[in-house]
This record gives sequence, structure tokens and C-alpha cells, in this order.
Amino acid sequence: MEGQSPVPVVLDCDPGHDDMFAILLAAAHPGIDLLAVTTVAGNGPLDKVTHNALRICTAAGLHDIPVAAGADRALDGGQDTAPRIHGDSALDGTELPEPAIPLAGDDAVTVTARLLEAAARPVTIAATGPLTNVATLLRSRPDLAPKIERIVFMGGSTGRGNRTPLAEFNIWADPEAADIVLRSGLPLLMCGLDVTHQALAGPEVFARLRAIGGELAETCAASLEFYGNAYREVYGMPAPPLHDPVAIAAIVAPEVVRCVAAPVAVELAGEHTRGATVVDLHGVTGARPNAQVALELDRALFWDLVLDSVQTLAARPSADRPPAERRSG
Ligand code: RIB
Ligand code: CA
Repeated sequence: MEGQSPVPVVLDCDPGHDDMFAILLAAAHPGIDLLAVTTVAGNGPLDKVTHNALRICTAAGLHDIPVAAGADRALDGGQDTAPRIHGDSALDGTELPEPAIPLAGDDAVTVTARLLEAAARPVTIAATGPLTNVATLLRSRPDLAPKIERIVFMGGSTGRGNRTPLAEFNIWADPEAADIVLRSGLPLLMCGLDVTHQALAGPEVFARLRAIGGELAETCAASLEFYGNAYREVYGMPAPPLHDPVAIAAIVAPEVVRCVAAPVAVELAGEHTRGATVVDLHGVTGARPNAQVALELDRALFWDLVLDSVQTLAARPSADRPPAERRSG
């Protein structure tokens, strides 16, 4: 990425503890021009994940990045959340200021479409929540497909799931939306559980976070503590996987993941398998590959990218951030 102009990115997310780190990395890394943060119901209801996105951007001093709210339910009308992992607020255990940033007056799809129309070069869409907003954009504005460089999404897996035995949460939450994205013909990079379960936040990550010092780093560490306790209780994992920033890291440093091209489909009808991503790693179906699928993570590089982003934002003048007294739990 050295020397190249920053990649224009719209980040669609459902914050969400790991989404928070995705926002920070996308905002801090010089290789990304973060055009907007949009929200979608997922880890929590739309109002909560949107409030969280505004609080995260406020805490990080991201006053010039539009935040727009999108879909409050899946294309089939369903609504699923993940309170066992993220808590009732969808970002429990995280002390953040009340928003000092206004929510965009238009919805996520309208804001994203406008940015694509105006973009001097095709825009990368990064998605770290259910794909409802992305699918709605593709269905309502097929004319904008040429303005989309690629879609990089955290979701799916080549094997087991985490929301059901075979379905990963983001895909499970809106399989019809995932199907639209997978059939879009656009360049896709899938960062599924295969690779994100290698992004485990062990004790050294907490130590490096706390060594940064300051409120933002402490907020991140406390957030990760809550998230880690949830993963230990629900899944028995000794360290939590920080899923979403893997998708962002793959944009700024493609070498952080090893990928293979493969056909990826999503099961829509199976009684036990709905929401499962079916990845043909060995070409047995004869289907044409429609995605790059990330399988391996360069852990050292990944954590350097994530922690450097917190360091970068924490080093910005405190005037960029609201006084502590406006903070809320
Ligand atoms: O399965 C993990 C994904 O679901 C992550 O994006 C997490 O934030 C939730 O959205
Ligand atoms: Ca997410």
C-alpha cells in the first residue's frame, strides 16, 4: 500500500465490540479514506448499534465522517441480535461519551449511493454486519455497480458457524442479503470465521493496548475485557476473536491474509443449514469462483495494524474528543 493513494471506503457495521476496532482501524490508517460509517441491525437493534457508532466516532474524534443508519431488519423481515456476546446495549462494558456527532439526515443506502455517484474512483464497501444495506444498495441502484471496487465482508465460514452449528452470525442474520451479494458478480473478499478465529486477543494484546495509555486505549481495553468474558462464557474460548478488523486489515495490507478463489454460495432453505456459506475449496461443483476467501492470518501484522490505529487516534490532540464528564457507561 506504500505510496498508493488511500482506498475510498464505506464501512457498514453493527457495533458491536469488534466493529468498534474496525471503525478505528479504518479511520486511522493512512491507506483508507473513510467516506462514511453506516449502520445495520445485527449485534443489536438499529437504534442501539447506531448510537454506538456515533459514540465510537465521538470518542475517536471522527467529527468529519458521516454516520448514517440503515436497515432495522433483514430482507425477510427478521431481526436477530447477539446480546450474549455484546450485551443489551450491543457494546456493554464500554464507557463512551454521548454522541457529539449528528446522525446523517438520510439513510445508509441514500448516503452510500450519493458517495458512489460523486466518487472520483470506485469505492470499496467494507461490511462487518449483516449484508442488508449492501444488498439493498445493489438491488435499488444496479447502475452504481461500476462505482464499487469490491465488497470486503466479515462473514460466513468454510466450515462451522457461530450462531448455528453451520451459520456465522452476519450471514445467518440475513441470508437473502448475502445471496444477493454473492450473486452480484462484483469482486468479493470473504473474511470468515476460518481467518477471524485466528485473530485472538490474548493477554499480550491487552498489555499493548494498556501501554498506549489515555482514555481511548483504556476504553478499548475495557471493551475487550467484556467481549473476552462473553466469549469465555458462551464458547469457552480463552481469548476472544476480533472478527471485524480483519476485513479492514485485508484492505490496507492485503498480505495480512492468505486467500483462495472459490465458489461461495449461501444456503437459504435448509431446515438445519439456513445461513450456512457453502465454499467449494476443491472445485468439486464445477462452479466458477465468485469470491476470494481468506483462510490464513498474519497475526503479528494484524495486531500491529489494530494497535497502531488505537495509538494513532489516541495521540491526536484531546481537543478532538469531548470532555470526560459527557461520558456515559
Ligand atoms: O460472527 C461474527 C460477526 O457477527 C461479527 O461481525 C460480529 O460483530 C457480529 O456482527
Ligand atoms: Ca459486526
